[in-house]
Amino acid sequence: MCGIVGYVGGQSAQDVVVAGLKRLEYRGYDSAGIAVLADGGLAAAKKAGKLVNLEKALGEHPLPAGTAGIGHTRWATHGGPTDANAHPHLDNAGHVAVVHNGIIENFAALRTELGERGHDLLSETDTETVAHLLAEAYSQSGEPAEAMRQVCRRLEGAFTLVAVFADAPDVVVGARRNSPLVVGLGDDESFLASDVAAFIEHTRSAIELGQDQVVELRRDGVLVTGFDGRPAEVREYHVDWDASAAEKGGYASFMLKEIAEQPKAVTDTLLGRIDPEGTLHLDEVRITRGELREVDKVVIVACGTAYHAGMIAKYAIEHWTRIPCETELASEFRYRDPILDPHTLVVAISQSGETMDTLMALRHAREQGAKVLAICNTNGSTIPRESDAVLYTHAGPEVAVASTKAFLTQLVACYLVALYLGQVRGTKWGDEIRTVIRQLSEISGSVERVLETMEPVRELARSLASHDTVLFLGRHVGFPVALEGALKLKELAYMHAEGFAAGELKHGPIALIEDGVPVVVVVPSPAGRSVLHGKIVSNIQEIRARGARTVVIAEEGDEEVVPYADHLIRIPATPTLLQPLVATVPLQVFACELATARGNEVDQPRNLAKSVTVE
Ligand code: F6R
Repeated sequence: MCGIVGYVGGQSAQDVVVAGLKRLEYRGYDSAGIAVLADGGLAAAKKAGKLVNLEKALGEHPLPAGTAGIGHTRWATHGGPTDANAHPHLDNAGHVAVVHNGIIENFAALRTELGERGHDLLSETDTETVAHLLAEAYSQSGEPAEAMRQVCRRLEGAFTLVAVFADAPDVVVGARRNSPLVVGLGDDESFLASDVAAFIEHTRSAIELGQDQVVELRRDGVLVTGFDGRPAEVREYHVDWDASAAEKGGYASFMLKEIAEQPKAVTDTLLGRIDPEGTLHLDEVRITRGELREVDKVVIVACGTAYHAGMIAKYAIEHWTRIPCETELASEFRYRDPILDPHTLVVAISQSGETMDTLMALRHAREQGAKVLAICNTNGSTIPRESDAVLYTHAGPEVAVASTKAFLTQLVACYLVALYLGQVRGTKWGDEIRTVIRQLSEISGSVERVLETMEPVRELARSLASHDTVLFLGRHVGFPVALEGALKLKELAYMHAEGFAAGELKHGPIALIEDGVPVVVVVPSPAGRSVLHGKIVSNIQEIRARGARTVVIAEEGDEEVVPYADHLIRIPATPTLLQPLVATVPLQVFACELATARGNEVDQPRNLAKSVTVE
């Protein structure tokens, strides 16, 4: 949700900042802008639309050469995606430029106040107030970092700010409350960014800025203080992921690449966590076995795709541990009055580790004494930092806005948590748990096999490109899979797509079925739980009798569904609870292909951003 870059060093600031913004464009792509300190002053350029528009403008009218600068790629909150609302924002004299991620909640009052003091605000954004406040504060202190601290103390809401001052040619200042900001320490150069991806090609030494901290960035180092001016302790760490992970590597889109990476992502997430005897080792989860044995309720909070992973986890946790489990949208949980106590284990699932709704939900849970375990893909991000324990997924960087490999690894992590709770507590399902741990350790082969047989799915997707609606049905763990299939199609193909629990169909949604409407049905494994299988076969017949064009996702060897399937997508036979790991993959491929056939850009769907750092 908005990408920010800051640079000071010996290279061309324009080049470094624009290259960094390219790596951060997944965070927002409504507009982009840059400001550099050059010729004793400040020069800025900004453009509505994607970064290419800004690059084109810079190609035609390059900024004067400078070696310190800031940049921004925007996901609009206050004010539409216009040139005027794009960042950076400058004060009236053009002495201060600032970029911002987040929302300044008291901006209306600040705007009125600035208006009364004669400032002329030109945009509709909350950010512009900060440029004016910084100019005032700087005129008094003459100190960029002190001006930033003074202004931050006046701001309410969530914000990351990065600013440059015309009078301070070798300094960039940044501030952080809630939204992320990472410092990169190079050789005679320093960087600031929302995500290490922006500077990984220059340095792997990083510092995650803490809550309510200000950083003064110079070529030869950085100084971090709290908003109160006191020096802050910082922890330097090494960024160990491969820079090529953030490249498309020959694929037409990041999404296609990330779909293909799923078998590896699943394997990596299991790596080192299961021993040859089939026992789980999650020593990294810093909640003691004693505490885990005392858990009497699990509450899972997450948003979007991560929420669907949490819905599936509920089936697994309740079955393997017999502990009651609720899964709730973080944005709803936060404003309820949930009943939690120190025996409640709250699991917060988030790929980015930044999602504001999930962060607020976990804070709400901790205030009430619950223990929070984060399942997260981003090392050192806010959600794991604020949790009691973390289980990292090892999907590697996920760049496409629509989540794919992160989802599969979230599922793996959820299964690991469920099985671990079962193992620690010694439930009566001990034998089943051992068997499932073994099956889980072999599951990436099945994901691989699904990927090898996707051509018919792609063909089908192309043939449905002109439809308006696609419905998705599932039962048990197939229900969240259906929801996930529908979400992928909505966000990528901009189509009306709905997922339903198949049993609910007759309570209303069946009225949507008319001649030719494609309905994708996720069929549970016929083995073991035949009741479930029999019920969904009846549901397929019901919709087909009403004209639906059925797209049936069923396991190899399931012959019962064949007569009712207009299109049959085969997946390998998989234990019921693990089936989402293989059944989701065709739905991802389906959505990606259908969106492409409709001419949409799959990595950057309209109106979306990868990490949602506003509520
Ligand atoms: C959908 C998607 C979103 C995210 C949601 C939570 O493809 O990616 O629904 O799953 O915004 O994001 P994280 O997992 O970063 O908290």
